[in-house]
Amino acid sequence: MRKLAGKNILITGASQGLGREMALRFAREGAAGLSLVARHVDELNKVRDQVQKIAPKIEIVVIEADVSKPRDIERIVASTLAQFKGHLDVLVNNASTIGPSPMPNLLDYPVEDFRNVLDTNLIGPFLLIKSALPAMIEGGGSIINVTSDAGQVGYPGWGAYGISKFGLEGMSQTWASELEETDLRVNWVDPGSMSTAMHRAAEPEEDPNEWANPADVTDIFVFLASDESKGVTGKRFQAQEDWKAEISQDSDKGLNKEED
Ligand SMILES: NC(=O)c1ccc[n+]([C@@H]2O[C@H](COP(=O)([O-])OP(=O)(O)OC[C@H]3O[C@@H](n4cnc5c(N)ncnc54)[C@H](OP(=O)(O)O)[C@@H]3O)[C@@H](O)[C@H]2O)c1
Repeated sequence: MRKLAGKNILITGASQGLGREMALRFAREGAAGLSLVARHVDELNKVRDQVQKIAPKIEIVVIEADVSKPRDIERIVASTLAQFKGHLDVLVNNASTIGPSPMPNLLDYPVEDFRNVLDTNLIGPFLLIKSALPAMIEGGGSIINVTSDAGQVGYPGWGAYGISKFGLEGMSQTWASELEETDLRVNWVDPGSMSTAMHRAAEPEEDPNEWANPADVTDIFVFLASDESKGVTGKRFQAQEDWKAEISQDSDKGLNKEED
């Protein structure tokens, strides 16, 4: 049995980079349905075609939407639930913007850009979780928020982006504690440096060959989306570190919920 058999999964930012690689990997792992969200529908359609080659029977919904817009969030969740007959197992909040490139210091940061980064990277995920939660809570399921090391260290120049990820990490912790009595788990993952459009825009002077291929960091996302991670909640993972050792240490100490 493949790890994601029967799972319906919503991925934001699925048109390129990590989101696209997650869609392809989830299809290989037997997902029943994928809801793919981004602003550029032509790119999303290309991903849909690639997914269908891997898994001809998978149900796919392509949603052209902007996660920084509350009205789009309602449409994302309504279209997803309509396609999947009200049954959503996994929500991956992956869509993100780096903000203006080159990245200004806070003193020079235009307030409209600052707001847009927070709306996309923090308020969008907040509203998506709020809106999808009622459909997910009964069957348990998994919320995965994609963060960054810039969400733990205030690097100069990474202002609005880093602040949005600090917020996302705090919000993830709070959701996890508030949902502790339920079977719904909330975890967040730093994928580490990857060669993607976002990273190239953030550090144009660096060599992208030094960064991981996003296709190579998807194992942790499969784990968190699958039933193997039942009972694991409120945790931060680093995709390019030895996260498996951390899970087994927690398990040895009886720290995972299902082992209480
Ligand atoms: N790359 C890295 O080294 C790195 C490191 C740490 C963390 N991360 C995190 O990893 C995640 C994926 O990043 P990536 O590097 O794969 O970025 P990417 O290649 O730039 O892809 C970003 C995705 O988000 C979508 N998106 C952006 N703004 C959106 C909006 N307002 N509404 C809907 N979709 C939107 C984009 O599609 P459209 O343009 O079509 O909307 C695209 O599909 C992000 O959360 C990022 O913060 C990346």
